[in-house]
Amino acid sequence: EKPKAERLSVEQEGKFTEDMKSLFEKLKPSEASGDRRRRFLEKLERLLNREWPGHDIQVHAFGSTENHLCMIDSDIDVCIKTSWDGLKSTCYLAARLAKCGMERVVCVPGAKVPIVKIWDPEYQVACDMNVNSTLALDNTKMIKTYVEIDERVRPLAMIIKHWTKRRVLNDAAGGGTLSSYTWICMILNFLQTRDPPILPALHQRPHKKRPPINGVDVSFDDDIETLKGFGHNNKETLGELLFAFFKKYGHELDYEKKVISVRHGKLLSKEEKNWQYLQNNRLCVEEPFNFTRNLGNTADDSSVRGLHLEFRRAHRILSEDADLATVCEQYEFP
Ligand code: GTP
Ligand code: MG
Repeated sequence: EKPKAERLSVEQEGKFTEDMKSLFEKLKPSEASGDRRRRFLEKLERLLNREWPGHDIQVHAFGSTENHLCMIDSDIDVCIKTSWDGLKSTCYLAARLAKCGMERVVCVPGAKVPIVKIWDPEYQVACDMNVNSTLALDNTKMIKTYVEIDERVRPLAMIIKHWTKRRVLNDAAGGGTLSSYTWICMILNFLQTRDPPILPALHQRPHKKRPPINGVDVSFDDDIETLKGFGHNNKETLGELLFAFFKKYGHELDYEKKVISVRHGKLLSKEEKNWQYLQNNRLCVEEPFNFTRNLGNTADDSSVRGLHLEFRRAHRILSEDADLATVCEQYEFP
């Protein structure tokens, strides 16, 4: 199938950018919801230190609570930092949280990163917490920095996230599709590879090296004052960018050969990464810190085929009548 249109007409582009701006206003979480999140985090920290006094337990939010890409129904991701070994058992932590009035408590001790999931009925928020897995704090800081560099990143990324949720493409664990984190990496790389680029590759710019954490280099350029305005030579509007995003992933990217790399700010080849024979390597998205990991491996071949069709569907709808509401229509299972 050939792309229907190379570009949007001026009228389509204008209408579409306006639609995106008003959708973005609706997606932005309210003051009240930000408040609820903050108060929940304070309560959790108080509660943990009351249960286990003398261990200086700190609660750090990460993920969308911190990276400016929070949606109304986003969970709160929390890293509990403590030098005390007692909290290493997530099931022990879970049992105590259940006693303190938390609901829907689940511990997942065997996961890559063991977590406890809870629902707080008082503040009506869902929370996933890990203990001392601090890499997520660093990759959250990276995303936050990218979002702050150019004012187009936040609305574009929020709208694409909204689209992934409505089209049921945002469930890495249960649905065999991609996590928000993987989607964000695909959006950032798209913006790094515009001509001229809208985002730099923070890992490639000169920066102060920090000591590695568990063998992982966590440093990148985070000097937001010098980074701001990086993309100003690129004049593309939100409408043009969303259209180009669907076109790139629907019609241009060579999934067979390429690896999406935020760390390098470009596409790499599967050969140079030695990823030709990885399992589930149809869609390759390099984890920017643990760069031997393919974030795309949560989607198998048939799932990637489904994603590909969704990109093409969105691109086709936009080239026909630039209707954002139809693009983001809730997917109904047949
Ligand atoms: P929503 O919850 O959907 O609003 O988005 P989110 O930005 O919070 O993303 P998500 O809940 O998928 O992930 C939260 C954070 O966990 C991300 O910002 C990353 O810091 C981290 N994370 C998620 N998945 C991975 C992964 O596969 N590898 C690594 N290293 N970190 C991850
Ligand atoms: Mg989250």
